Amino acid sequence: MSHLLVTGGAGFIGANFVRFWRRHRPDDAITVLDALTYAGNRASLAGVDGVDFVHGDIRDTALVERLLHDGAIDTIVHFAAESHVDRSLHGPAEFIDTNVIGTLSLLTAARAVWLAGSGQPHRFHHVSTDEVYGSLGPGDPAFTETTPYAPNSPYSASKAASDHLVRAWHHSYGLQTTTSNCSNNYGPYQFPEKLIPLFLINALHGRPLPIYGDGQQVRDWLHVEDHCRGIAACLERGRVGETYNIGGGSELPNLAVIDTLCAAVDAAFATDADLARRFPDAPAAQGLPTASLKRFVADRPGHDRRYAIDETKARAELGYAPARGFAEGFAATLAWYLANEPWWRAVMDGSYRDWVEANYAARR
Ligand code: NAD
Ligand code: DAU
Repeated sequence: MSHLLVTGGAGFIGANFVRFWRRHRPDDAITVLDALTYAGNRASLAGVDGVDFVHGDIRDTALVERLLHDGAIDTIVHFAAESHVDRSLHGPAEFIDTNVIGTLSLLTAARAVWLAGSGQPHRFHHVSTDEVYGSLGPGDPAFTETTPYAPNSPYSASKAASDHLVRAWHHSYGLQTTTSNCSNNYGPYQFPEKLIPLFLINALHGRPLPIYGDGQQVRDWLHVEDHCRGIAACLERGRVGETYNIGGGSELPNLAVIDTLCAAVDAAFATDADLARRFPDAPAAQGLPTASLKRFVADRPGHDRRYAIDETKARAELGYAPARGFAEGFAATLAWYLANEPWWRAVMDGSYRDWVEANYAARR
């Protein structure tokens, strides 16, 4: 039996991971440490039994030390971060504070508690992103774990810095670390600032779907449940000090994702008459195509053109393979958002509306 500290466990991937781990290892103890920023939501953990929730900041090193020591925690799964590229362009300093200084704080606490005296068995798993590798051209080979780092946004630069710190704490101090670099996640509980939930909710309200640039940017879409299985494989079978790429095997241009989304919303309204009553402003409620909401807007500055993951290492060493293709994963995600309207209504508060106005006003 283990005791996990899950940082950022009230965010999108963290909450899915806590739910996954509860089913996967029901006897393990779980403590969530989350500062409940705009992206953190207690409701995302509703109904999960036996989770000790601590409302606190990863930059509070003394708090983390106390949690590790008093709870006899032996595993950290580190999700907590500022995670949205567009927000990093508006306010980069917060990304350095949380993603770099926050990771430093966790490493400092882990070293102080776990490496004191003769040391104890432990694991520090760091959740990172494929964006640290930069941008690919159309014919370039996919990112491997040895692709040189070339981050292009304040977000990816801050994640790259945190990856380097984790690596250094392993090499210099012997901290038992693993790192995973994954592609674009989607699924339940994703905050509606990211492409898929933003466009889904806009479509339901008849609001424009703002496509950056020409919409031909390519991402590898990873269902969050597959990502959670990949992290579990790193924890259970990953070699200490190593990094593993985790992808979804679904490389798609944004326009293909958006067209899938529009067609799926049309089909949902065609088969469920109640949706037109619940969302009367959706084009689909009036028999019009959701695709009529598509708008090409000014591009994201420095927008990376393509990410692609080569996950040969994770397949060979961990036995990891994504189980859900995009069509299946997307259908399940649409069904979840339609069935969980109270969850997404609750997170779209005043500060959310201010963000949408600030980010999209300049692009119109
Ligand atoms: P998210 O923005 O949905 O959630 C982040 C969580 O961290 C929130 O609950 C927030 O309250 C918490 N948090 C922020 N600052 C904190 C602090 N100082 N102390 C404690 N908690 C704090 O993010 P996500 O999409 O779930 O991403 C989780 C991790 O996965 C991040 O490290 C991100 O870089 C990485 N990642 C995400 C994706 C993706 O597609 N979403 C892909 C690759 C990697
Ligand atoms: O690749 C992994 C990364 O994926 C993670 O590290 C990040 O935390 C996560 O946010 C995500 O970054 P992206 O920038 O790729 O995700 P986002 O959902 O913001 O955008 C996906 C693509 O859609 C990207 O090419 C930009 C485009 N886009 C996004 C928004 C929000 C639009 O065209 N319009 C939009 O309004």
